[in-house]
Amino acid sequence: MFRDEETSRLTGYHAAYDEAGLRAWYSSRGAQDDRLDLAIVERATGQVVGEAVLNEWDPGNESCSFRICSVPGAPGRGLGTEATRLIVGYGFETLGLHRISLEVYAFNPRARRVYEKAGFVPEGVLRGALLWEGEQVDAVVMSILAPEWSRHRGRPEPEL
Ligand SMILES: CC(C)(COP(=O)(O)OP(=O)(O)OC[C@H]1O[C@@H](n2cnc3c(N)ncnc32)[C@H](O)[C@@H]1OP(=O)(O)O)[C@@H](O)C(=O)NCCC(=O)NCCS
Repeated sequence: MFRDEETSRLTGYHAAYDEAGLRAWYSSRGAQDDRLDLAIVERATGQVVGEAVLNEWDPGNESCSFRICSVPGAPGRGLGTEATRLIVGYGFETLGLHRISLEVYAFNPRARRVYEKAGFVPEGVLRGALLWEGEQVDAVVMSILAPEWSRHRGRPEPEL
């Protein structure tokens, strides 16, 4: 995931690949009590196919940020949508959050589609928030609130 150029672009990940640093980071995630870093595991194969994270917890405002990333090869089979619904549902129904927000770059319509399918609503644009290979890219801020989740539980669009 961290060695894939397209994944780095889509997530705006500028840091150089550092396997030791990444191993130290992931092996310390279970000890954090102010964020939730989960692996996405495909049931059919038992393979880890990505990660889904609630971070930037703000207890005073009952809010969190959300991020998700699939390993290369995993995208496009509905796993991202399912994982998003699962962790966002956990945030509202089990953790009692009021607001979950995220940022998605303007050049990532696939991720934006997944967030919209799960009920995230665009609320503003951070203009030129990312500089990637000489291009200034906007970031769209999206959020979902607890009352919205209660209404549709991650399915705001009518099922076909
Ligand atoms: C974003 C990500 C988690 C989505 O997971 P996924 O498993 O690929 O998503 P799904 O298969 O559940 O759904 C993809 C949806 O996007 C749609 N889509 C795919 N390419 C698209 C495009 N170029 N424009 C618009 N929609 C697109 C698909 O048709 C599908 O929607 P549908 O079910 O209405 O047809 C995954 O692609 C990923 O990790 N990408 C690389 C890193 C990344 O972008 N992370 C997010 C940073 S904000």
